[in-house]
Amino acid sequence: MRGSCFLLLFLLPLLATAGGKPPTGKFTNAECLGCHASRDAKLIAAWRASSHARTAPKADCVTCHGATHAASLARARRDSACVACHEKLNRTVTHSYATSKHATIVKLEEDQWDWSQPLVRGNYRAPGCAYCHLHGAEHDTRLSVTTWQPFQPEDSSVREPVATRWQAICGECHAPRYVSEQAATGARMQEIARMKLREAREVMTRYQGVLLAENRRELDSLFTGMQAHGRNVRLGVGHQSPDYQWWHGQPALDGDLLRIKGMIAERERQRAGRP
Ligand code: HEC
Ligand code: HEC
Ligand code: HEC
Ligand code: HEC
Ligand code: HEC
Repeated sequence: MRGSCFLLLFLLPLLATAGGKPPTGKFTNAECLGCHASRDAKLIAAWRASSHARTAPKADCVTCHGATHAASLARARRDSACVACHEKLNRTVTHSYATSKHATIVKLEEDQWDWSQPLVRGNYRAPGCAYCHLHGAEHDTRLSVTTWQPFQPEDSSVREPVATRWQAICGECHAPRYVSEQAATGARMQEIARMKLREAREVMTRYQGVLLAENRRELDSLFTGMQAHGRNVRLGVGHQSPDYQWWHGQPALDGDLLRIKGMIAERERQRAGRP
């Protein structure tokens, strides 16, 4: 009698899943993984490949979906599943989105939307974080981003698949031509930002020998700021926030570059013994 009771307890979760219905009750992350590993092997592998499984603070099944199946999808689809953690990691990421038209619409309308629906056009008027980065339930978030490398030429074999993915996602709501125009302008803006960073690095390297230790310290700190401003341009482009590109991006880069060149010119004047 006891034995069969045990057997039944052991079989219950399996029986519950046999019909394809999510079991009720609370689960730990290990239990989510254990049960979903066989039914959604690709999804689990995708999550494992993303930063969410590999970089602290980790975002696991429970972080996004909650510990129960009740509303597990609705919960994960909303911006609130992403923002608090990403805000702490890097404010540029969340603020560049928050100042976009998409975010404005989401914020105004999200409480009227039915979040139990899949993230595709027709169900949502504007995209939030998950619409863009976990589109089609793709749990490998790396597939939606490239690495920002201001000092290397863009590697098109890395860029192309990501760009193609975006064309399709943006194209769910915008005309193909509008999407390509946005992409081309965005690429140009990022290239201009990269040119400014490369120019700064080049003058700093060229005059390295004549700079004093204190000049170098000051220039290094200006250059660090400049890289942050370059990232603002990149995220202003990615998150369609003109404010980020313009207020916190290009003009800031121009200012940094002027200051770096000014400091070097000043040092040259000192060396030449001119006032
Ligand atoms: C004992 C097995 C089992 C465990 C444990 C389990 N799930 Fe599921 N889950 C299922 C089944 C069965 C479904 C129904 C859909 C399917 O066939 O995959 C499902 C569906 C889902 C869905 C799709 C939503 C839906 O309503 O169809 C999500 C999201 C999900 N589970 C996340 C989780 C998370 C997060 C955990 C841990 C807190 C978890 N699951 C634990 C078996 C399990
Ligand atoms: C970063 C947040 C995040 C994490 C981490 C995450 N998910 Fe999801 N998951 C989502 C979102 C958002 C959706 C809905 C996508 C959509 O509607 O297109 C989703 C969809 C799903 C679905 C439905 C798949 C489908 O084809 O419709 C399942 C099942 C699921 N997740 C299980 C899991 C499991 C198991 C884990 C742990 C390995 C996990 N998720 C980790 C955000 C997350
Ligand atoms: C508990 C914290 C946490 C939560 C919640 C979270 N993330 Fe992340 N996410 C990270 C960390 C850590 C990284 C890697 C470091 C970084 O990019 O700053 C990351 C990276 C990413 C990346 C870059 C791609 C990659 O895998 O490296 C994207 C895109 C992303 N997250 C989107 C989302 C979305 C969309 C949500 C909500 C559905 C979300 N994240 C929820 C912690 C989190
Ligand atoms: C309209 C689609 C869209 C929305 C909405 C969106 N993103 Fe992005 N996100 C992008 C694009 C495009 C990029 C740049 C990809 C590239 O150029 O490699 C990006 C880049 C990122 C990165 C990489 C940052 C880096 O410096 O490498 C993270 C992390 C991220 N987004 C998280 C989020 C989070 C969190 C939200 C919500 C607060 C969000 N995104 C909303 C499209 C979107
Ligand atoms: C779910 C639908 C949806 C998706 C997906 C979407 N957008 Fe939008 N987008 C909108 C809506 C709605 C507006 C506001 C339109 C308006 O201003 O009348 C908007 C506005 C914009 C604007 C601002 C236009 C302005 O007047 O300032 C840009 C730029 C833009 N989107 C680009 C993109 C890009 C690039 C992507 C993909 C990374 C994308 N969108 C994905 C629905 C979407």
